[in-house]
Amino acid sequence: MSYKINPNILKDNFHFTRKISEDICAPLEIEDYIPQPMENVSPPKWHLAHSTWFFEQFILVKHLKNYRIFHQDFAYLFNSYYNHMGDRTNRADRGFMTRPTVAKVYEYRAHINKHITILFESNPTQEILKLIEVGIHHEQQHQELLVYDIKYILGTQPTFPVYGNEFSIPENNSTEKFIQIKNGLFTVGNSGNSFSYDNEQPQHQVYLEEFEISNKLVTQGDFLKFIDAGGYENFDLWHAEAWDFINKNNIKAPLYWHKQDNVWKQYTLNGLQLLNLNVPVHHLSFYEAFAYAEWKKMRLPTEFEWEVASQQFDWGTLWEWTQSAYLPYPGFKKAEGALGEYNGKFMLNQNVLKGSSVATTKGHERTTYRNFFHASARWIYSGVRLVKK
Ligand SMILES: [Fe+2]
Repeated sequence: MSYKINPNILKDNFHFTRKISEDICAPLEIEDYIPQPMENVSPPKWHLAHSTWFFEQFILVKHLKNYRIFHQDFAYLFNSYYNHMGDRTNRADRGFMTRPTVAKVYEYRAHINKHITILFESNPTQEILKLIEVGIHHEQQHQELLVYDIKYILGTQPTFPVYGNEFSIPENNSTEKFIQIKNGLFTVGNSGNSFSYDNEQPQHQVYLEEFEISNKLVTQGDFLKFIDAGGYENFDLWHAEAWDFINKNNIKAPLYWHKQDNVWKQYTLNGLQLLNLNVPVHHLSFYEAFAYAEWKKMRLPTEFEWEVASQQFDWGTLWEWTQSAYLPYPGFKKAEGALGEYNGKFMLNQNVLKGSSVATTKGHERTTYRNFFHASARWIYSGVRLVKK
């Protein structure tokens, strides 16, 4: 790494980050911590424990002298997908675990916080600090997933419970303009002079043809016109896989939209509300984003077009689907050992999303960030920005 980590700043950041996860869960009732209504959604209890497991197994077990693990079963219960870290429970079975209790998981968090504090007092090396830094960013990623998953857990209840005002998507009433970017060679990717994931490196050059990109995300009002024009019934607009997906799952609108007595409503974390036409459309799959762009006779940006143009528009409300497949950059090297499983092994059948969302923890966003999901993902905070063909 080409930068030096200040241990005092990192220690503050560690405690600050750990508290945010608990703040996100504060409005929940104890029952809300447990269910897993679909495989992609993990129970809040699991997120709280898994982000803690990461610090225990990647850092304390290896680097804190005389450290004793909190509970012998937790390595098995809260490993997500790291083959290097041993056996684990089935991903789809996370919602069946009523034990350990939520209270025990909070005890686990306090235990790990205490021991990371002890580790900070032992004058840790830059290598250890680097691991703690990864653990902080890892927990921040889970904080965003916590928001998605809490919304799905509450938003699929028949009573549409209210979570609170946090993480609402603001209106955007600005006038749409298209920004012209001249063709040329551009530098993309992360320089490595501050924290980034391995998938953002190495920095390299790309050639882009001239393009015009919107300064504004597509709104719900725009998207409603697509629905009213029969967009979900017109096979010409959809990929074959997408057409099968929307028909098999009977999808006729973005996730959380409900038509009641001929009026469009939407589940928000503030409960069921009338659809606000001036809010950027969100909870769309890549399939839907692509079909909408087809209907407008436009397209989605590539991840590189987005990164190059991003200095000229506002971003940060929603993750923005790109048409770029999630692939390694030229010269990509995955980390040694378990951390090498963090990104590289997912570089298949996923699309890159750029930007960040209102659910992204402050400080976690950067223009080189490469978020990625399968084209069918809809419970994420995703939106659409168009490019003229
Ligand atoms: Fe994780």
